[in-house]
Amino acid sequence: MAQVSKSHRVVVCTTCRHTGEICQPGLTLIAQLNAAIAAAGPTLEQSFEVSGTTCMAGCNRPCTVAFSASAKASYLFGDIGTEADIDSLTEFARFYADRADGMSRMAERPARLRHKLMARIPASLVVTEAAESLLQ
Ligand code: FES
Repeated sequence: MAQVSKSHRVVVCTTCRHTGEICQPGLTLIAQLNAAIAAAGPTLEQSFEVSGTTCMAGCNRPCTVAFSASAKASYLFGDIGTEADIDSLTEFARFYADRADGMSRMAERPARLRHKLMARIPASLVVTEAAESLLQ
């Protein structure tokens, strides 16, 4: 049976520069996010892939978690680690999946995440670069 690719990605940093070893909190966070997204229902579970990655340059605010999807804004959150953060990320995942361009104002994001946002990268930047490369 062909595997269906998921349209949205949540990526968790699993490396810690100060130790150079696998980041156990990051791996735990991946398992917690997978469980929370699955518990949120089949629509969300079928839309999101949760995986790990190396450093996302947020080392002073671990754990770091990124959201991305094609033609949508990307987000990087830091200081993620508590059970309440997992609930807020799941709530944000639902919002992110529903929003066509992925853009959100601070007031629209879950309260716990408002000061944990480290970057929001509009999709237009990525689209512009892709368009430029096609013209060359
Ligand atoms: S090691 Fe996690 S963001 Fe750098």
